[in-house]
Amino acid sequence: MARPLTATVDLEAILQNYRYAKKQQPTCKALAVVKSNAYGHGAVEVSRYLDKEADAFAVAAIEEAITLREAGIVSPILLLEGVFEGDEWGLCEKHGFWAALENTQQLNELVASQAKIDKVFLKLDSGMHRLGVDKETAPTFVRALKETGQVGEVVLMTHFACADDVSDLTTIQQLAYFEQARQSIGDIDASVANSAAIMKWSVPEGGWIRPGIMLYGISPFAEVSGRALGLRPAMTLSTKIISTRQLKKGDKVGYGLGYMAAEDHVLATIAVGYGDGYPRHAQNGTPLQINGQPACLAGRVSMDMLTVRMQDYSAVPAMGEDVVLWGGDVPVEEVADHAGTIGYELVTRMTSRPYYRYLRGEASQ
Ligand SMILES: Cc1ncc(COP(=O)(O)O)c(C=O)c1O
Repeated sequence: MARPLTATVDLEAILQNYRYAKKQQPTCKALAVVKSNAYGHGAVEVSRYLDKEADAFAVAAIEEAITLREAGIVSPILLLEGVFEGDEWGLCEKHGFWAALENTQQLNELVASQAKIDKVFLKLDSGMHRLGVDKETAPTFVRALKETGQVGEVVLMTHFACADDVSDLTTIQQLAYFEQARQSIGDIDASVANSAAIMKWSVPEGGWIRPGIMLYGISPFAEVSGRALGLRPAMTLSTKIISTRQLKKGDKVGYGLGYMAAEDHVLATIAVGYGDGYPRHAQNGTPLQINGQPACLAGRVSMDMLTVRMQDYSAVPAMGEDVVLWGGDVPVEEVADHAGTIGYELVTRMTSRPYYRYLRGEASQ
């Protein structure tokens, strides 16, 4: 028998979530963000499924973009961090990539390369202070890009620091700063919205939205799950029970003996661990399901195994029973919360060890 750990990825759910994103901002086109291996869901499989419908894709770096082209993806692909070295501009032209640009070095290297680029997304630093030019410099960059004669269109882009917190005024301030820059440039398309902004903020009409986490059915907001937002969670991580034992009240379990049975109960050992991407910092009590019933983590996470118990002490888990670590009725956001992190991190840290199974509409809910 093969190791039973399986990541089932519902590609139709991702397509539906992409459509949902576009419905939230119906005047905009959408860059499907598939960086970091499509947030752990498999960039090639996800992009192949969306390719006919997506307006464009976005990745972090040219290596990710080339992988997609080599897999047959034909839609435009934006490099969200632009080029890291000047010779990448030639590759951008060759493969038809679009690129973000945020400094003079990238601009000079573009000119030196003589590469022709369909769209350059000029990054404006509207307050996050991570990447981008300020609003006083932005018009000069736009002019310089146009004067190269190498760029088809310049789009003005920014990124929000706090869009996931609807009570925080930073997003309003960033939007105001962005609009000032835009007005001083004149006629230019905008790209400002990540998932949180797409769902909760009023963003400029037209231009490009950039949905990432919402495509995978995961919430960008701390207090609400993807499902509650109307999204369809795309990944189910599941495995099976590979061993069971009867514990007596007071028995201790696992590395550091980090769990102590509060009463007599059956403990189950399951095939998944931090070597697969399950978070090592998940606490005792982290939710999961055994045969559809509530269960929880009982003991420290090992590299290849976890120990778990039924929520109801009197229920008895058995060898070979199915276990869902996240997906379905176990929100990944809740698991992340028990591990002191966010859903983004859990899925992007998935490794290649699980068996990845792709659903293409046949078993979508
Ligand atoms: C520039 C940029 N745009 C869009 C996204 C997508 O963000 P989210 O996954 O929150 O939708 C990211 C993700 O980090 C990003 O860096």
